[in-house]
Amino acid sequence: MRFAVLTVSDRCAAGITEDKSGPVLCEMIKDLAELTLYEVVPDEREKIEEALIRFADAEKCDFVFTTGGTGFAPRDVTPEATKNVIEKEVPGIPEAIRAESLKITPRAMLSRAVAGIRGKTLIVNLPGSPKAVRESLAVVLPILPHAAETLSGKTLDCGRPKP
Ligand code: MTE
Repeated sequence: MRFAVLTVSDRCAAGITEDKSGPVLCEMIKDLAELTLYEVVPDEREKIEEALIRFADAEKCDFVFTTGGTGFAPRDVTPEATKNVIEKEVPGIPEAIRAESLKITPRAMLSRAVAGIRGKTLIVNLPGSPKAVRESLAVVLPILPHAAETLSGKTLDCGRPKP
């Protein structure tokens, strides 16, 4: 399995702040999948969309995780950019993340993160802080292998063993 990480942050892209969340993501997934791309873009819809499309279509990543830009700030547009490039929405993933995160902080309801499928790639938005990334990704990690199996078409019937 191959994954990519996209940090969405004006300050990180401008070199004003060091990206701490992208590396947390990379570290948490590295035993499960191979990191193929890690990029930082500003909170600009076109740049986010261009990266997501490239990671899915050209790089053929199984998973793309974004971090940042999911909140209420005027420039937060990661969910809108993601919705614009996905073909199928996967509401269960952000629902599960928010449900678990709400047990930790009521601020979890401030993330507008979405998840969806483009081709054979699963794209998942995560909030921007390293703490939020850790807490959110812990919810998603266990389902990733099965998600990749079904996306690739290897598992057609979840309930039955393959003939
Ligand atoms: N989710 C978890 N698990 N833990 C957190 O600390 N922070 C919240 C929320 N989701 C948080 C969380 C906060 S404070 C905000 S503003 C939103 O995510 C949006 O974050 P973003 O704009 O950095 O994407």
